[in-house]
Amino acid sequence: PLPAPFTVPLPLPEVAAPSRTDGRADYYELVQSAAEVEILPGLRTRVWGYGGTFPGPTIEARSGRETVVRVSNGLGAPTVTHLHGGRTPPESDGYPTDLVQPGARRDYVFPLDQRAATLWYHDHRMDYTGQQVWRGLAGFFLVRDDEEDALPLPEGERDIPLMICDRSFAEDGSMPYPGFADRPGVREPYMGGVLGDVILVNGAPWPELRVERARYRFRLLNGSNARPYELALSPGGTIVQIGSDGGLLTAPRGMSRVRLSPGERADVIVDFAAYRSGDRVELRNLDGEGPQGRVMRFAVGGDARDDSAIPRTLSRVERLDPAAAKVTRDFAFTGGSLHGGTGWLINGNPFDPRRAEARPRLGDTEIWRLTSDVAHPVHLHLDHFQVLSVNGERLEGPPEWKDTVELRDAQTVEIVTRFTGYRGRYVMHCHNLEHEDMAMMANFEVV
Ligand code: C2O
Ligand code: CU
Repeated sequence: PLPAPFTVPLPLPEVAAPSRTDGRADYYELVQSAAEVEILPGLRTRVWGYGGTFPGPTIEARSGRETVVRVSNGLGAPTVTHLHGGRTPPESDGYPTDLVQPGARRDYVFPLDQRAATLWYHDHRMDYTGQQVWRGLAGFFLVRDDEEDALPLPEGERDIPLMICDRSFAEDGSMPYPGFADRPGVREPYMGGVLGDVILVNGAPWPELRVERARYRFRLLNGSNARPYELALSPGGTIVQIGSDGGLLTAPRGMSRVRLSPGERADVIVDFAAYRSGDRVELRNLDGEGPQGRVMRFAVGGDARDDSAIPRTLSRVERLDPAAAKVTRDFAFTGGSLHGGTGWLINGNPFDPRRAEARPRLGDTEIWRLTSDVAHPVHLHLDHFQVLSVNGERLEGPPEWKDTVELRDAQTVEIVTRFTGYRGRYVMHCHNLEHEDMAMMANFEVV
């Protein structure tokens, strides 16, 4: 029996306090540990969490200010932590085989030489990412900067991160991972990815948030293993998108629906002054049916002072010039055979830490042509990119920075990126975590 929707208040992940700060950096300590938490009312669920919580604590960092996160592994399995969307040197990027063994710890150093954006951190252990994230190893990492602070956007209690993910539960409240195989990887019935029937927001099932008749900023993150969402308000209403994976858009964009594949983020503003006090506004998932078509609900309260505004110009985003590209590379994301069974491959190859699929040069602009058989949300580590075309059709409108793009069935998506970060070995992969664990990942080495 599924819990009744909209009966649990929306939790907000705790904001991590630095353990120390000096002239150079802010230092955080996160202990990965197992904990019993209440997700379904009246039941206990064992999770794995950073700091024993799911989602983990939110790290709030400043652009250009080094942030060092010491992760101690208090779990019974090796882990790897990756900052998704971070421009991070290779030794701190959470390479899938850079394991932190049980009882050990590692300092991840993030220079954060990048603009304000909603990032997130999560487990990235080779072959086990799906199950370790499912157990709860994920949290928000917000980068702020002066440019964004200068804008009159909703802030403080009206700037709310929302991690949306699906899970399923057993009768006793436990959250077993059904894709578990007795060898590395995922069991074949879960080729398509593991879906849950309960939609959680910040770790609570179909929660409710009381809001005032004012503007709110929501940092939407699809933290699901495999489920895409198509988010819309019911009964109707505009969602104004102001930011994407890589931070602010050039100008706000009014939308009736926002699509997010696993790993993607959208920064949006909803003005509840458009509703009446006492209204109940649902956030729906048009891509799901029945209970999976619901996400959360807003209970609209009274009038409140609101000094926020949505400026017509948000930021300046440089348009990467595809004519500057020295190389165009092709990457085919398809099913294929893996260890005598089936798996997911890139250019016909399963993930192999020793082989680089591409060797871009630091400073170069490149075009990457990504093709799919079925849907794959493709994520590049290190540098953000811009989408040029989908199925040969040029994208209109101002450029935006992305780090994850959804390829739908049988699509070709061209992206342009410039390798400005660091030299070294990085991964690109499908962010359907079961596909990733079934080897749909490749190295690129910036040289
Ligand atoms: Cu969000 Cu390589 O992952
Ligand atoms: Cu995939």
